[in-house]
Amino acid sequence: MSGGIIARPTAVTGEEQIQRYTFKERAYHWINAIAYTYLFLTGLAFFTPYMLWVSYVLGGPATSRFWHPWIGLVYFVTILWMQSAWKRDMKAIPQDEQWSKNVKAYIELRDEAMPPQERFNAGQKQFWWIMFYCTFILLVTGIIMWIPERIPREIHWLLPITVFIHSVTALITIAAFIVHVYMSVWVTPGSTKAMIEGDVSVNWARTHHRLWYERITGRKG
Ligand code: HEM
Repeated sequence: MSGGIIARPTAVTGEEQIQRYTFKERAYHWINAIAYTYLFLTGLAFFTPYMLWVSYVLGGPATSRFWHPWIGLVYFVTILWMQSAWKRDMKAIPQDEQWSKNVKAYIELRDEAMPPQERFNAGQKQFWWIMFYCTFILLVTGIIMWIPERIPREIHWLLPITVFIHSVTALITIAAFIVHVYMSVWVTPGSTKAMIEGDVSVNWARTHHRLWYERITGRKG
């Protein structure tokens, strides 16, 4: 614990550092994060009148409506970049099942009860696949809502269903996003530094991603 925040006691500084994210991976991630944050805020403003004020902060409702689909395309491209960079690391491994079964211990910060993990743990993989598949649903439904005048009249009944699917899918990603930011920024010290500067301490790597640490350093334990 540190400073009253529930956090894992790792990330010793002044220790040997190893690279976790390349510059390219960090650039993809942060462009994606900025695009997603814009979509999430403007999307909430369209979703409920209680949040409409957010669109005024971001330039007004018309400006938000104009940019939301374009930034959506930027977000989609960055998701494809991230998938191409991380698809190997996001594949399931046998330890993932045990990790998921022990998730209660993970939430209680009892890391000693968790099986060793590869570059990403099973929870990080689940987060990724939720975001990845939801992005395709958001893209298809978003394009339909972008150009409704191009939809043949006979199937206009599809529009309210499309709006419903787009909204529910967006809410699922928002829930996943909140967990992601909470877990990586607050609960696991050293992770934000990894995504900004690119490296982590040996202790961090050994504690959270032992299999990855052993694979990339060639060391044992
Ligand atoms: C302001 C928003 C965001 C912040 C502050 C943030 C923060 C972070 C941090 C600190 C890490 C490093 C975690 C580690 O290596 O242990 C990370 C990793 C990652 N981020 Fe984000 N992120 C944000 C938005 C997003 C979004 C929108 C996506 C996907 C659509 C995303 C996908 C990922 C993935 C796949 C990883 C690697 C695996 C993982 O840690 O889950 N991030 N993020």
